[in-house]
Amino acid sequence: MSSHHMRRYADVEKALTLPDLIQSLYDEGRKVLMEQTLVTLHGEEHRARRLLEMRIFKRDFLRYYEEQVLPGLLSETLAPVAAAGRLELVEFGYRVMIHLAIAFAGIDRQRFSDQESDDLLHMIRVFGKAATLGQLKGDPEPVRQEIREQLAFFEREFFLPSVQRRRAALERLRAGEIAEDELPRDILTILLRNEDDLELAAEVLRNEVAFFFLAGAHTSVHSLGHLVHHLLEWCEAHPGERALLEADPLRVQRFAHESFRLHPSSPVARRRALATMVLPDGSTAAAGDTVIIDLRQANRDTEVFGADAAEFNPLRPLPASVFPHGITFGSGAHACLGKALAAGTVLRGEQPPAADNHQIGTVATIAHRLLVAGARRDPEREPRLDRKIERETWEHYPLLLAPPPGTGGVPA
Ligand code: HEM
Repeated sequence: MSSHHMRRYADVEKALTLPDLIQSLYDEGRKVLMEQTLVTLHGEEHRARRLLEMRIFKRDFLRYYEEQVLPGLLSETLAPVAAAGRLELVEFGYRVMIHLAIAFAGIDRQRFSDQESDDLLHMIRVFGKAATLGQLKGDPEPVRQEIREQLAFFEREFFLPSVQRRRAALERLRAGEIAEDELPRDILTILLRNEDDLELAAEVLRNEVAFFFLAGAHTSVHSLGHLVHHLLEWCEAHPGERALLEADPLRVQRFAHESFRLHPSSPVARRRALATMVLPDGSTAAAGDTVIIDLRQANRDTEVFGADAAEFNPLRPLPASVFPHGITFGSGAHACLGKALAAGTVLRGEQPPAADNHQIGTVATIAHRLLVAGARRDPEREPRLDRKIERETWEHYPLLLAPPPGTGGVPA
């Protein structure tokens, strides 16, 4: 079997829409977590599940998350670290995003304790390893075992009680005791409501919800690390910029899109050819061949983004045909369902946003809030990239914050 590598922007965009290319990025991860989840399905089965799940990604619901839920979560998570005057960005990002992601997936907090947040934090870090198992350097078996154990813990402590609550709510709906809009609005509820048609095994249902928890939090936290890094570097190199960014969340969103472009959280998509076919770059793939669809390289295509495509430049002119974040959220049948949540409203080229119903996205919202809180690099603690996986990800990023008002400039 041969391998083919698509790198040009136009080839990558086209390859993602070819129906005879089947998902193969998660061949390792599906053995432990992703079997039969949306991202690994193909054809009609994929289409039917996607159409169903798309129902919760409606605009009003995304706005509710960005404007009502996220600010409260941010304040709650910022309060203790602001008092200490410092935070570690990766952990901070996870602590905010896990609570958003479980709400979307349909997982209820059971105890609302610090221990429970710590458990969820550990769980998302372990589930995250399923997405990168194929790129792991070294023996994957201990990692597989760790993921299986966490999945069993997730099922017992979170998934089963959440299923029970939703089944009871659906029962009350059938009995006319509650109205439609009193049902929880999340993936698990949608799946339970349609379980007769879907015929999903209990294990598949559990995996799907765990996958949404993972997809909702993990990628956004990676992206937050890159964005904050670029923001701080840009502010250091451009005096006066910080005040502009603090005053204008839309400007932070533009920086976020440029950062998404340079650092797609999945640097490549991978597919397998189902039949002999001519690929967009003109090469011929035989059935069973692997096709690497290089999102990272495509986003650095100088023919599309200019001679400085590999540089961070949020002020670059953009062609009308592309999104400012490039192909980072994929395209075609598997295009990211959570893009509007993570990146906000995104228009192609340089169209100005319509002020009335524009969304900034969770990643830019969190970064903006950190800038306003005075976030800056800690001169005594260097940030560190994750060396265990091949993709570029911040593993540890210490920040200092401005002292809270009324403390006489001294963090607690
Ligand atoms: C910065 C944040 C994010 C990035 C960069 C990102 C990127 C991607 C990419 C590249 C894919 C396509 C994978 C492929 O073609 O093989 C994808 C799929 C997906 N994403 Fe995201 N994602 C992000 C955030 C989210 C969020 C917040 C959610 C959920 C709330 C989410 C849910 C999904 C789902 C469900 C799929 C599978 C869609 C399908 O297979 O039909 N993502 N994402």
